[in-house]
Amino acid sequence: MQAKAADAELTKLRVDVVVVPYFQGEPLGPLGAAVDRALDGHLARMLDTKEASGRFPERVLVATMGRLASPRVLYLSLGPRALLDGYRLRNALQFATRQVRSFCRSAAVVVDPALRDVMSAPATGQAPQSLARAIAEGIALGNYRMGELKAAEETGQVEELHLAGLGSGSDLAAALAAGVRLAEATNATRVLQWRPSNRLTPTDFAAETERLAKAHGLSLKVLERAEMTKLGMGALLAVAKGSHEPPKMVFLRYKPKASDRSGRVLALVGKGITFDTGGISLKPNPGMVTMKSDMSGAAAVIQAMAVIARTEPRIEVLGLAPLTENMPGGGATKPGDVVAAMNGKTIEINNTDAEGRLVLADALCYAVSQGATHLVDVATLTGAISIALGHPVTGAMSNNRELLEAVRTASLEAGERIWELPMYPEHEVALTCDIADVRNTAGIPAAGSINAAVFLREFVSDRPWVHLDIAASSYHGEPLLAGLVPKGPTGVMTRTLAHLPFHLG
Ligand code: BES
Ligand code: MN
Ligand code: ZN
Repeated sequence: MQAKAADAELTKLRVDVVVVPYFQGEPLGPLGAAVDRALDGHLARMLDTKEASGRFPERVLVATMGRLASPRVLYLSLGPRALLDGYRLRNALQFATRQVRSFCRSAAVVVDPALRDVMSAPATGQAPQSLARAIAEGIALGNYRMGELKAAEETGQVEELHLAGLGSGSDLAAALAAGVRLAEATNATRVLQWRPSNRLTPTDFAAETERLAKAHGLSLKVLERAEMTKLGMGALLAVAKGSHEPPKMVFLRYKPKASDRSGRVLALVGKGITFDTGGISLKPNPGMVTMKSDMSGAAAVIQAMAVIARTEPRIEVLGLAPLTENMPGGGATKPGDVVAAMNGKTIEINNTDAEGRLVLADALCYAVSQGATHLVDVATLTGAISIALGHPVTGAMSNNRELLEAVRTASLEAGERIWELPMYPEHEVALTCDIADVRNTAGIPAAGSINAAVFLREFVSDRPWVHLDIAASSYHGEPLLAGLVPKGPTGVMTRTLAHLPFHLG
């Protein structure tokens, strides 16, 4: 998609659809009102007669019958002004694109002062450029389709976006281009998330990563089983044991041309289970089919790295993904087995379905061994996070205020929500084990997401670290949020991770 400032007056602008966002219960702003006047107050009348409710994210598509140069107007409700944030704005725009993409190649979005003011309020920390970026992201996110394997999938996309009401100039152009890039990276994450496990094995994922590294000039090392064995990655190897597919660990490195000489090295670590059956602690069937997306964290990491290579932050960034299937079988790890991670800590694996924390343990150790000073992991780690927070927010746990604040700032810029869960000393009871240093699950159904974080913390060598649990926010099942976010994969945290290197310290 291309995005630029609209250069004609709105009634003269020639695009396939003019999108007019508005707030529930408020009159249209000056730009929106000018469009509506050309249509004899169509929206105002629909709201009056209750044909339209103005509730988020209602969309009313009308034909302009020659009253505007553009053939259609889409009135898009953003709901009540007080509830709008970057997440809702992007979702509303995503819906607008999805509604028109099969017959509209070009779209304009009209930004009235009310929207500009809300999104630039100090509480949201957003400058007008950030709003332009958010709009480009929302529209481009709507181009995602999950049917890459359908023979006759429709391919219509919004290819051209014109932004009216935020001025023009090189800052705006840069913001729009950044938004398109970030959204397209997010969509690339979504494609990988939803690719079936027989078409995205650890080997396939490593090949994808290699293509990406080549295209963006990142250095890449792929660790094979032999090297993992030499390095003592007993936890990762324990998960891989039941599968016929060989495990891989991809290790991307971005080195700044112009370093800030702070010596900081940020490592992004993504869980890359290409299919999670649970292993010998086999999952019940209904919960298993979406486990092809248990590599969502890994996908977000490699796509964020691709953006980082383009945006050139001044610190070094590492991108790591431990990749394997989690399968039952004659060679599989059995509940009660004890293994040692790369840092020497012994782990009793009392539940083979808690495999994510095992592969991450070795990846975090390896990141530290490669010079990481700051660590952020992203993982579809626990079903419990959806009990705690639901789907519209990512759970965050951390051993360091400053790094958590940096992630929070990045997530605000990205329009992705995070919410912190605590780790108190008493939560460490989850680790107590009679026969090894730690066990991989607490064995009681309490604080499951926190227990996982407490486990991961054993492998970060006291480096500043943030753990992001995306098990719920990474995708949406059909009924849950049908009215708010489209069903399927979200690509969550791709944009937050891409912003993060610019906000460290
Ligand atoms: N991949 C799952 C977590 C998950 C659940 C992701 C639902 C997406 C949707 C993870 O490996 C897992 O199985 N976690 C267990 C941990 C338990 C055994 C302590 C879980 O959440 O049940
Ligand atoms: Mn599991
Ligand atoms: Zn898993």
